[in-house]
Amino acid sequence: MRPFQLSLRFIFPLAVVLGAFALVMLPLVDELAQRWFLRDLDIRSQLLARSLRDPMADLVALQDAQGIQSLFDRSVSDAHVRAIAFCDMSGRLLYRSSGFPPGLGCEPGAPQGLRVTDAPLEQDGITLGRIVIAQETGFIDRRTDEFRNYLFAIFLLMFIVISALGAWIAHWGWQGWMQSLKTLVSRDTVGPGRLGAPPAPPEFRPLVSDLRALLHEMNLERRTQQQSPQAWTPDKLRSLLHDELAGDQVLVVSNREPYIHEQGEHGIVVRRPASGLVTAVEPVMRACSGTWIAHGSGSADRVTVDAHDRVPVPPKRPAYTLRRVWLTAEEEQGYYYGFANEGLWPLCHMAHVRPVFRTSDWEQYVAVNQRFADAVVAEAHGDDPVVLVQDYHFALLPRMVRERLPKATIIMFWHIPWPNPESFGICPWREELLAGLLGNTLLGFHTPFHCKNFLETVDRYLETRIEYDASTVSYGGELTQVEPYPISIAWPEPDAPLDVVRCRNEVRQSLQLPVLHQLALGVDRLDYTKGIAERLQAVDRMLDQHPEMVGRFSLLQVAAPSRSSLDEYQGLEARVRKLALAINQKHANPVAPPVLLRVEHFDEEQLARCYRAADVCLVTSLHDGMNLVAKEFIAARDDELGVLVLSQFTGAARELHEALIINPYHIEQGAQALYRALQMPEAEQRERMRSMRSRVRDFNVYRWAGLMLLDAARLRRRQRVTEKIHSHSRQALRRAS
Ligand code: F6P
Repeated sequence: MRPFQLSLRFIFPLAVVLGAFALVMLPLVDELAQRWFLRDLDIRSQLLARSLRDPMADLVALQDAQGIQSLFDRSVSDAHVRAIAFCDMSGRLLYRSSGFPPGLGCEPGAPQGLRVTDAPLEQDGITLGRIVIAQETGFIDRRTDEFRNYLFAIFLLMFIVISALGAWIAHWGWQGWMQSLKTLVSRDTVGPGRLGAPPAPPEFRPLVSDLRALLHEMNLERRTQQQSPQAWTPDKLRSLLHDELAGDQVLVVSNREPYIHEQGEHGIVVRRPASGLVTAVEPVMRACSGTWIAHGSGSADRVTVDAHDRVPVPPKRPAYTLRRVWLTAEEEQGYYYGFANEGLWPLCHMAHVRPVFRTSDWEQYVAVNQRFADAVVAEAHGDDPVVLVQDYHFALLPRMVRERLPKATIIMFWHIPWPNPESFGICPWREELLAGLLGNTLLGFHTPFHCKNFLETVDRYLETRIEYDASTVSYGGELTQVEPYPISIAWPEPDAPLDVVRCRNEVRQSLQLPVLHQLALGVDRLDYTKGIAERLQAVDRMLDQHPEMVGRFSLLQVAAPSRSSLDEYQGLEARVRKLALAINQKHANPVAPPVLLRVEHFDEEQLARCYRAADVCLVTSLHDGMNLVAKEFIAARDDELGVLVLSQFTGAARELHEALIINPYHIEQGAQALYRALQMPEAEQRERMRSMRSRVRDFNVYRWAGLMLLDAARLRRRQRVTEKIHSHSRQALRRAS
């Protein structure tokens, strides 16, 4: 389109110039042609008169009228000669050719359509009279017309050839410029030192050093921020938003809403969902005061919104807007329970549960993604908001938003693992999902391993250009940056921490456990990826191996009911309940059951108490993107005691190296780790906990959000620089044409 527009800019003036030239030239050319032809006729007349002179002189002397007539008639056979006459010196017409036209005589002047010339006839120096030759001029107009048409055709041909040439040069020139520009920008943005990168083209050389300096500064800033020892706090995030995205609107999209209004027995109550996503994104929204678009799933959600389906939150101290989107039961079933949780969830988690793909679910998934994309467009104040898309519920939304708001900066975080290409390949709509995700400006995963899996999956199933070094995918002319951003939690405020000793006592008391009873803690949504059954089996095995622990140790398992309308989840709950019962019967004792199973939601405060009361926290997920329970446990332990047993299949295991890392499928290993944790001397606990606490404190959720937003700001700047260069190039091209 752009080269076409550029060519028009060249073709239009060319047409005007050639048109004006033709307008001026054609009458001139007419006149010139007329003159040429008349001159030609005169020359021919002179030649004819010269050729007649000698025979005429003799014939006139002999007064041979017949001879003269026949001489004249022979000469008149020439194409344009109409008549010939001879006039004597007194102007009398003596001889003339046959068919002599009326009105033509020896007097000056010629009838219409004839050109008359005369030449004296002399003999021996005596003038005998004049030979008068009349030639037809009708052919001159015909020839002049023909000549004008030829000339016009030549102008037209010239116009077509020059325009085509111009368009061709503009097209290839533009392509070359844009390619060079992209190479230049991507090479300098993603980092220096990509081997084999071609040098900047000469036309960019005056710009290159400025551009490099700017991009280098941006990269430097990113690296500095990443390695900065300075702690990330809500204030730092706020000032970053203020400095880097000043005035830019921030919109969050997620399925789960951060505040759910429920109709309780005594009026409306507000509930916080058991969601790592909400835990992580909420502090960002508090800091940037944007709009969060989510599914309104609470029984009192509709009565608490305004006419635009908006409600200010948090309810006690509003800091941002929650915009609710309503779904029918059928939509929720197909999009959320069906495609997202029976399809994508088991597809992305290696927990050996078969994904289920139904066309009807897919159709709802597409429709609901479109509904949320429409809500994003409706909530956007301008054409370039910053949109933060959350999770696997919205794989199609980024492209849908990109089509309507091409200048938006769309950042998506995929909160669950990304599988290898073979596993992902079983999804019947894999290409559509990947194309949807490549509508993002920036796509984040928890770990570099998930990023690698994603790039390999794209490579396998879509026609794209992937720069592995730079971690970018170019698809349909758009660039998506793929980066790891390990998610985390908000580091708790130091003021008024809960007292650990009090929590230990109160929790034990509420569970009717002796004061010195050892307590392990599990906190999860009741989900088959969390390895709850494996955890219970490890407890059982530990008690088998260490019977002296029976009556001295219990596991408190908090399992928040989740997605309970799905068979797989109902089956899991039944299995877990049965297993807990069996273990409690097997290791029955008068002091306390070994497993205290609580299938219910615990609020933040209850959980904070449990984290402080526990000696050990067990995180035994079979597969988990990150697992924030591990980090919450560490953050809660300001006494620097407590041991974390952590599955090697969580994203958290890549950061929390001082935890006791286990393979949850290996029940003996789990049992040994649990026993070791229960026996660990306090000094060792402190050493491990201190190190993990400093990591979680520094690598907190503000850093997670901050780095993502910094990258978004950097990409936004890059887009603006690119646009500036585009407009610079356009101006240069305009000037050149
Ligand atoms: O792990 C993915 C995730 O979306 C988390 O962010 C969140 O903790 C959990 O799933 C919530 O699931 P749901 O919203 O289906 O209850």
